[in-house]
Amino acid sequence: MEPSRAMTSLASQLESRLTDHTATVGVVGLGYVGLPLLVELARAGYEAVGFDLDERKVAAISEGRSYIPDVPTAEVSALVAAGRLRATTDFSELVKVSSVNICVPTPLRKTKDPDMSYVVSAVETIAAHLRPGLLVILESTTYPGTTQELVQPILERTGLLAGRDFFLAFSPERVDPGNPRFNTRNVPKVVGGVTPTCASLAARLYESAIESVVPVSSPRVAEMVKLLENTFRAVNIGLVNEIALMCDALGIDVWEVVSAAATKPFGFMPFYPGPGLGGHCIPIDPFYLSWKAKQSGFEARFIELAGHVNGSMPHAVVQKISEALNTRRKAVNGSRILIVGIAYKRDIDDVRESPALDVLSVLQKRGAVVSYADPHVPSLDAAHWHGEGEPLVSVGNLDAKTLRAFDCVAILTDHSAFDYAEMVRHADLIVDTRNAVKQSAPHVFRLGAPAFSETPAEVLTA
Ligand SMILES: NC(=O)c1ccc[n+]([C@@H]2O[C@H](COP(=O)([O-])OP(=O)(O)OC[C@H]3O[C@@H](n4cnc5c(N)ncnc54)[C@H](O)[C@@H]3O)[C@@H](O)[C@H]2O)c1
Repeated sequence: MEPSRAMTSLASQLESRLTDHTATVGVVGLGYVGLPLLVELARAGYEAVGFDLDERKVAAISEGRSYIPDVPTAEVSALVAAGRLRATTDFSELVKVSSVNICVPTPLRKTKDPDMSYVVSAVETIAAHLRPGLLVILESTTYPGTTQELVQPILERTGLLAGRDFFLAFSPERVDPGNPRFNTRNVPKVVGGVTPTCASLAARLYESAIESVVPVSSPRVAEMVKLLENTFRAVNIGLVNEIALMCDALGIDVWEVVSAAATKPFGFMPFYPGPGLGGHCIPIDPFYLSWKAKQSGFEARFIELAGHVNGSMPHAVVQKISEALNTRRKAVNGSRILIVGIAYKRDIDDVRESPALDVLSVLQKRGAVVSYADPHVPSLDAAHWHGEGEPLVSVGNLDAKTLRAFDCVAILTDHSAFDYAEMVRHADLIVDTRNAVKQSAPHVFRLGAPAFSETPAEVLTA
């Protein structure tokens, strides 16, 4: 499309505001993705306004408090005090921003179909305040085609046209909560615009706040990039989980195998087994892709198979616990079991889709008396594991007496705060799904590894 005069002038005005940082920029959805982005934009020199429906989040930011562990409160409070960052539930303030990034949830329905309701609602709100010259960027992970097939038509219902009157792009968020090395700022940002001008304006916004921007030819490519990345993870985790179950059957230690294979300097990347997939991304995103592929008559077999293997892991863990208890002539029914680590991965507080919740639920259904310990998750509503009754409260102090009180201690998330040597010393029975204890012992049963008596070497892989 040839740029019209109006577009050229709108685009160049926006470009100069983005370049000289006189633009006010907005982020809709202030969760694990949106808040770090808002902070980076404010740090880059923009006046940054966050929008969320959740009054508690908005109140926390207004008080200068962070509720996301990766974002230091000191940083939020300094930016709020300097007048560079604020948050609101009043979406009419969207008329004040030059750009808006959408970072709302994209979960799955029970049927494993995409639930686009949050994206649709956020985009409808933006459409209600759309004015010429606005740059809209979708960041939520979604199926290829969303930006142009779903978002663009809603915005264009206003009579304004993408690429001419407003600018539209997709840029996938790649945040990795709890990762001390990589953050919003130093992870390259892939950007695909509906038109070349849309792409270059989106890139201009990010260039101020993010170290490296990777332009691609369209939103559809950018959407697919994110799904390739997460499908790659899901499939490789599924593969290594299947290898772990295979190693269990063959009496081989999968942890030793992966650790030795990882010494190959090319052509191999280590993935580690565990109790299953968790979080808002890896267990969900690949199904966005398979849903979309199915609409074109394409069956995404790797995704379905990986989903099947990963989804079976909590049951494999319960089986391991049951076998371990059996060595003490005990049944799951009536046993006191301590789940160590309930968050879906190390050193974070997020329990969404955590496989530990599935393990908890299955154990409870089989009559076990289950407690959990997680320094990052002080309490847990029954709704989290589709159970009933009072919330569970994390066991605080894992001292010798507490550890001895359980028939089995099941390590499901290997937080660095735990003292694993102390667990080995005092627990009667340990099932370790993460190789956290890193040693073999008669009372330690590791996922994907033979029991102690069959083990050739006493001290195994680190
Ligand atoms: N968490 C991650 O590690 C991660 C990593 C990469 C990508 N993503 C993707 O980023 C997106 C956001 O994920 P998240 O983890 O930040 O979610 P989150 O649940 O932590 O945050 C989403 C926020 O959006 C708000 N919200 C919902 N609907 C809204 C609306 N209509 N208007 C305004 N605010 C609204 C919610 O109140 C919440 O604060 C998802 O698509 C996710 O798949 C997440």
